[in-house]
Amino acid sequence: MRVSVLGTGYLGATHAACLAAWGHDVVGVDSNAERIATLSTGRAPFREPGLDRLLGAGVSSGRLRFATALDSARDADVHFVCVGTPQCADNHAADLSALWGLVDELAPMLDRSCVVVGKSTVPVGTATKVGERLRRSAPAGDGVEVAWNPEFLREGCAVEDSLHPDRLVLGVETDTAQLRLREVYAGLLADGVPLVVTDLATAELAKVAANTMLAARISLVNLLAEVCEAANADVADLATILGYDERIGSSFLSPGLGFGGGCLPKDIRAFVARAEELGVSRSTDLVHAVDDVNMRQRVRAVEKTTDLVGGDLRGRRLCLLGAAFKAGSDDVRDSPALDVASRLHRGDADVVVHDPLALANARRAHPELQYEPDLATACAGADAIVVLTDWDDYSALDPVALSAVVRQPRVLDARLALDAEKWRAAGWDVSVMGR
Ligand SMILES: NC(=O)c1ccc[n+]([C@@H]2O[C@H](COP(=O)([O-])OP(=O)(O)OC[C@H]3O[C@@H](n4cnc5c(N)ncnc54)[C@H](O)[C@@H]3O)[C@@H](O)[C@H]2O)c1
Repeated sequence: MRVSVLGTGYLGATHAACLAAWGHDVVGVDSNAERIATLSTGRAPFREPGLDRLLGAGVSSGRLRFATALDSARDADVHFVCVGTPQCADNHAADLSALWGLVDELAPMLDRSCVVVGKSTVPVGTATKVGERLRRSAPAGDGVEVAWNPEFLREGCAVEDSLHPDRLVLGVETDTAQLRLREVYAGLLADGVPLVVTDLATAELAKVAANTMLAARISLVNLLAEVCEAANADVADLATILGYDERIGSSFLSPGLGFGGGCLPKDIRAFVARAEELGVSRSTDLVHAVDDVNMRQRVRAVEKTTDLVGGDLRGRRLCLLGAAFKAGSDDVRDSPALDVASRLHRGDADVVVHDPLALANARRAHPELQYEPDLATACAGADAIVVLTDWDDYSALDPVALSAVVRQPRVLDARLALDAEKWRAAGWDVSVMGR
């Protein structure tokens, strides 16, 4: 089938590569010429395990190509919309300007029947408006159908998640759209991937609902961590105990610096903004609290670092381990690690940031910070080390060897990444968020 993928960022590039691997004839379109130039060579413009291989195979097979001109997508039977929907600059709602810009540019090109499938995360009710707007100005008129197919991939294992998803959600208005999408995903359906066919609104809500549930778990465990600290209890043991309860389960129960990234924070805020627009405002206090608890972890990390270095940050050399919003990714969008780094820098600490992958993105986002790609050099002369991203490289650090490099053997583990007893035994003053 001829398929277009409109917007080739973290989501779209992965989706385009997978569609080509499933045998479709795919064109990926993005207004970012630099991104398209890299993708056209069969390489990913960001770090995602397995994606280079998949892109390379797609491009060399001739089934996958990339372009900056939307006109290249004109002949597709199915168009996947994958543009960004970040948080608005001045409020908590989703900024849909890229989506509407794309819709308005695409509509006049749709002169044959096709399905426009949203994969971007949008406020409930957007899909219906997209359909109306497209049909109003597309030459094919009612031949243009709209469907919503939310994406649940996780950065860091996006390829694996896309090739082996735990569920497939199709929000459709007609059988024609459903049949087209069943054809697109025929391989996954043959593999027995659970399928939920639903209406547009439910499909739009599926992604923000999942992210709100996950965010709530993280903030709840961080609330428990604060209580554990105050009560001299052990939150890691508490999380283990909770995890054995089948009704609760153990995933997303790691206390620490909280969630960030290009999805969770903006998705829960956009969910609340839309719920309030729909008149559901009293119960949204719950999600406001989830956000507040999450953001407070960043302030707590700064406070704990300040305590660790004796109450005054000024002039203290701090080695901050991690810039990515989570291990396995080079994405620094709304990264808790970089937020903490920036707060410490504003507090007049002398910070140096290390990350195994995300330094180029971090430098673009926060040029005011100092960065060091070599771990030992980053730690040299530090008054304290602060672990802000749960990279394996940091769990594997040798506290004995490191104590010879730093000025003061003091560490704050904001991700429960270190073996605290081992570090204490090596003479370190160890502070752990949640313990
Ligand atoms: N990143 C994830 O893990 C993930 C997972 C599930 C869902 N999502 C959702 O998918 C959407 C995209 O997220 P992302 O992380 O890939 O964002 P991104 O910023 O990495 O990519 C968006 C891309 O869209 C392009 N774009 C914007 N306007 C365009 C236009 N008019 N024509 C062509 N290209 C255009 C941008 O240049 C950019 O490359 C968001 O709604 C996000 O919430 C993301």
